[in-house]
Amino acid sequence: MRDYIFGGNWKMQITSMKETEKIINSMVENCPTFKKNTKVFIAPSLPMLPLASKMLKNSPISLAAQNVGSIEKGAMTGETSILTLKELGVEYVIIGHSERRIIIGEKDSIINEKLKLVLSHGLTPVFCVGETAEERRKGKSIGVIYDQLSEGLKGITDISGLVIAYEPVWAINNTLLNPVGKITPASPEDAEAMHKSIRQWLLNKFGEDANNVPIIYGGSMNSTNAKELLAREEIQGGLIGSASLSSEKFFPIIKAQP
Ligand code: PGA
Repeated sequence: MRDYIFGGNWKMQITSMKETEKIINSMVENCPTFKKNTKVFIAPSLPMLPLASKMLKNSPISLAAQNVGSIEKGAMTGETSILTLKELGVEYVIIGHSERRIIIGEKDSIINEKLKLVLSHGLTPVFCVGETAEERRKGKSIGVIYDQLSEGLKGITDISGLVIAYEPVWAINNTLLNPVGKITPASPEDAEAMHKSIRQWLLNKFGEDANNVPIIYGGSMNSTNAKELLAREEIQGGLIGSASLSSEKFFPIIKAQP
């Protein structure tokens, strides 16, 4: 049975401790019983992690970080060590999100270092790949994704513990990346086709182990479209931004799992 993973990527959308506390409280109180093969995490901003860690302790919801420094320890202003994340009970780390690639300017080489670091510490990286609207228009989607995969996974031989999120940039609910009014989720057909291409790339590179890597979808996933997306065999969960900011929006997506 394949694993399903649902992650709430809060980005910088919740900016107060009070609000963080309120949302997590409601999530813990209203948390449904997840299926055995289902993992759920939320990724609040880094300063909220100690609070979130305490609150989620005896709940089935795991803790994730939105970022990590590319070295274990040292002189790296503004970054957070994997050792600190581990101490806080973080289990998942989002790496290579297009907001970091495009807005912050994070390069494939840094993403590769972060992936290696997170895997070597036994945490689960949620490695995001995705093409922009322009790359898609030019018919370059698969080439872009394959480049991101081969650069990001360079030198990595053991992919047990890896999760991949296909997040087409054009589908992400982000007006810094996409024009207002032009943001739509990928159709289940398009998303599944890309997931299959990603799986094929992984199989070619890593052999049978690739079958154990969950490939989840992200980009405007919500309670209305989740059922159709998740009905596709290759879509094994979601990385959810805007619709993960309350239990009322987030949990129906998880319940839509087939
Ligand atoms: P969205 O964000 O669900 O708000 O589109 C998804 C993501 O960027 O992870």
